[in-house]
Amino acid sequence: MPLQAAMESIKKAKAIAEKCPYRPKFHFLAPANWMNDPNGPLYYKGEYHLFYQHNPYGENWGNIHWGHAKSKDLVHWEHLPIALAPSSDLGEKHCFSGCCVNNKGVPTIIYTSIKSEKSIAKKAEQWIATSSDDMITWQKSSHNPVMSSNMHGNLDVRDWRDPYIWKEKEIWYMVLGGHVHNKQAGIALLYKSSNLNQWEYLHPLCEGERGNRMTRSNWECPNFFPLKNSHILAVSPYNKVVYTVGSYKNHQFKPGNWNYLDHGRGFYAPNTMIEKDGRVIMWAWIREGGTGGWNGCLTLPRILSLGDDNRLRFTPAPELQLLRKNHIHMENLLITPHSKSVLGNTRGSCLEIIGIFEVASTGNFGFKIYQFNNYENGKIIEIKAERRYLRVGKEKGKIDLTLNEKLIKFHIFIDKSVVEVFLNDKDCLTSKVYQETLNSDRIDVFSTEEDIILKSLDVWELKSIW
Ligand code: FRU
Repeated sequence: MPLQAAMESIKKAKAIAEKCPYRPKFHFLAPANWMNDPNGPLYYKGEYHLFYQHNPYGENWGNIHWGHAKSKDLVHWEHLPIALAPSSDLGEKHCFSGCCVNNKGVPTIIYTSIKSEKSIAKKAEQWIATSSDDMITWQKSSHNPVMSSNMHGNLDVRDWRDPYIWKEKEIWYMVLGGHVHNKQAGIALLYKSSNLNQWEYLHPLCEGERGNRMTRSNWECPNFFPLKNSHILAVSPYNKVVYTVGSYKNHQFKPGNWNYLDHGRGFYAPNTMIEKDGRVIMWAWIREGGTGGWNGCLTLPRILSLGDDNRLRFTPAPELQLLRKNHIHMENLLITPHSKSVLGNTRGSCLEIIGIFEVASTGNFGFKIYQFNNYENGKIIEIKAERRYLRVGKEKGKIDLTLNEKLIKFHIFIDKSVVEVFLNDKDCLTSKVYQETLNSDRIDVFSTEEDIILKSLDVWELKSIW
């Protein structure tokens, strides 16, 4: 019955959301209303399944359910019935983030159950639910809670949540995030189980440092996975998402330096899926609201790999090329500080752009998008002087490009109000950028101080994923 009310609410909001000019067309989002973190991505019986934090009743965070969708190709998605709703008969108020695994053929969700707003910090529990009809309906286990915070003995863990699970030989391991009371630093804790029902607390996997801007505070949504011979830990400490590349032996993790996973504040609470061949796919929630009937969407699926410099590399999943339609290609265009309209009538608000610049310049250069007809104004995607910063609209992130890199590749996706930028596959910035008016959709390139060459430019209009 309650789910019927949720469906009614979604139906109403959907009619409004579909008219919203800022609502993305090729980024995954809920049918309507609020969504946040991606949860439990899993490849099952030839299809990708993705869940997400969802308030089916409104445009703001609250009443947290698990939405659900599936895809055959990682690009086009089909919405499925809501997977988890809070069990109010059991006092449950929210179904927070978690994961989904295939436990010997039984799809199993492990998530954080919250009883009331007051218990978010102090009394979270970890619950499980299974499905016996190929993930359409889910039954919460009679063993719940399968973990409670008193399992840590004297360690007072607060904001304990967001299970992330993997298997080593026949044993399940889990990492959960939070912080230790009064310590002002995030923590990721390690657990093990042979059956998903009984769990043993092992030890902290990694701790942040009080006073360290990147790792203090509280750690949400830890992800822990292997790449080459290293292990990556990524956490969401309210601010920008950070990761470290370290070594993992005998269930002990030695972290390296910390870096930002994406320079945009909009990019949050990522979740990864490891495919059979080891390919790592990541999605994150793009936060900061929609307007009218919807709020939040996911990033495009991006593929993670590890560079020789022990930093992550990011590329959009190649499957996304399925969305390409009209295409423009240009080569060897000279851009001077006086250039205007180098790209002529190139325009659009659902675009993929790959621009490779040849630059000796230490000045600012890049793209202007969402320009008016007279090529004035527009929103900027640029590398700033000395290659120290990437800027997208109002946001700026410190980047890792050296002056020795003569070829600079911008891989950009523009989707109504969402912009994702991949720079030489090393630095990403995901942001919300709004057009001033609906016909301000021209794009152009610029350089402020020196003549530079745009060696090649490809622009595709992209189709909707629905
Ligand atoms: C991250 C987060 C998680 C929590 C969920 C609640 O965005 O705060 O820590 O499980 O969202 O919706």
